[in-house]
Amino acid sequence: MDECRPILNTGLRGFKVATSRISDVNGDIGKIIYRGYLIQDLAQKSSFEEVVYLLLYEKMPNKEELNAFEARLAAERQLAPEFIDALKTRPKDALPMDILQSGVAMLAHHDPDVRELSNEASSRMGLKLIAKFPTVMAAWDRIRNNKEPVDPLPELGHAANFLYMLTGEVPDEEVARFLDVCLVLHAEHTFNASTFAAREVASTRAHMYAAVAAAVGSLSGELHGGANVRVMEMLLKIGSIDKVEDYVKAQLDAGKVIFGLGHAVYKVDDPRAHILAPMSKKMGERVGQPQWFDISTELEKKGKAIFKERKGIDIFTNVDFYSASLYYTMGIPLDFFTPIFAIARISGWAAHVIEEQYAGAAEKPVLYRPESEYVGDYCGPETCEFVPLEDR
Ligand SMILES: CC(C)(COP(=O)(O)OP(=O)(O)OC[C@H]1O[C@@H](n2cnc3c(N)ncnc32)[C@H](O)[C@@H]1OP(=O)(O)O)[C@@H](O)C(=O)NCCC(=O)NCCS
Repeated sequence: MDECRPILNTGLRGFKVATSRISDVNGDIGKIIYRGYLIQDLAQKSSFEEVVYLLLYEKMPNKEELNAFEARLAAERQLAPEFIDALKTRPKDALPMDILQSGVAMLAHHDPDVRELSNEASSRMGLKLIAKFPTVMAAWDRIRNNKEPVDPLPELGHAANFLYMLTGEVPDEEVARFLDVCLVLHAEHTFNASTFAAREVASTRAHMYAAVAAAVGSLSGELHGGANVRVMEMLLKIGSIDKVEDYVKAQLDAGKVIFGLGHAVYKVDDPRAHILAPMSKKMGERVGQPQWFDISTELEKKGKAIFKERKGIDIFTNVDFYSASLYYTMGIPLDFFTPIFAIARISGWAAHVIEEQYAGAAEKPVLYRPESEYVGDYCGPETCEFVPLEDR
């Protein structure tokens, strides 16, 4: 190996690989927009369904358009009986994100749209996936707990339906609205790892399901969608406010990360963390478990201060920091935190896949094909002499 050659490990940080009309993130000032609209406005004033419409069809819907769109989602929520039967054959301890990823591939088997390469077919497939993600995950949670899946209710919205299908009980309006806001906040976030994975697969002209399955795999990792699970495990391990400082020091001493802090893009707190924090506080109080929010705020304070002291640089809270305690106090199983992220982000993935394939030749990137810097063997200036197996 040539020792002088620099090792490339860019993670594509800072490279702009395509133009996009879908969203923008300014990490220096903590600003997120979806198709021109500020995330704070969308979180406060709109529903997840409105945001999905915005992402897919590039405008905020009027009342009539929204009603029609909600009816289409309602019509697509149900799963085919053979799909449910297939889920019942899975091992009960399968990872939920693996169930989701294989579920996406299985849904493709039932959809004739996979054979049509067009904007309309892609849009239809995206809508079906958005509608079905909560049903698949709720059905899986019930099946793994030896319960029968619950059919969606047409009169409930997306977030409320998920909670209903998960628990079998129509959720309280405030709790459903908390989840609705979480879905809005997680719906889209530019060229993050999973979105890039989806777009990369879409650039080969593979269909929506293939692209989304790749994105689900990408989101399952603990440095991406899996981080909120790690945050909650951390909070449970810490257990009380007085143990926070020692925990932070021990983690940093051991060269380990504190989940929920740090981000590849933000140089300030993620604005979504500021929207999630008060909901986490309120939800904790509602269920008589305020400690998870309290430990989180202490961890934020101590984590930031000790990190600055040790590294001389600032660190900031990311979106996973307060969503963890919020989901936990909502009664969501830990291993469903990342699936909830996926239930939201499928809307962004769908919009990106459509943009990747149909944005118009001038704007659309060609098939992604980056390069690597070879630093392996050459056996000197020449290539290696091939030695037959029996002579090695
Ligand atoms: C997201 C993440 C991978 C970004 O990493 P990054 O792009 O390397 O971030 P930075 O360049 O700002 O990191 C600067 C330094 O701080 C360290 N650092 C960053 N986040 C850290 C954290 N949460 N805990 C401890 N150290 C951290 C990095 O390892 C790096 O150290 P080094 O200079 O010794 O290599 C990283 O912050 C992380 O692992 N966070 C925890 C996981 C998480 O919450 N992920 C969800 C993201 S939404």
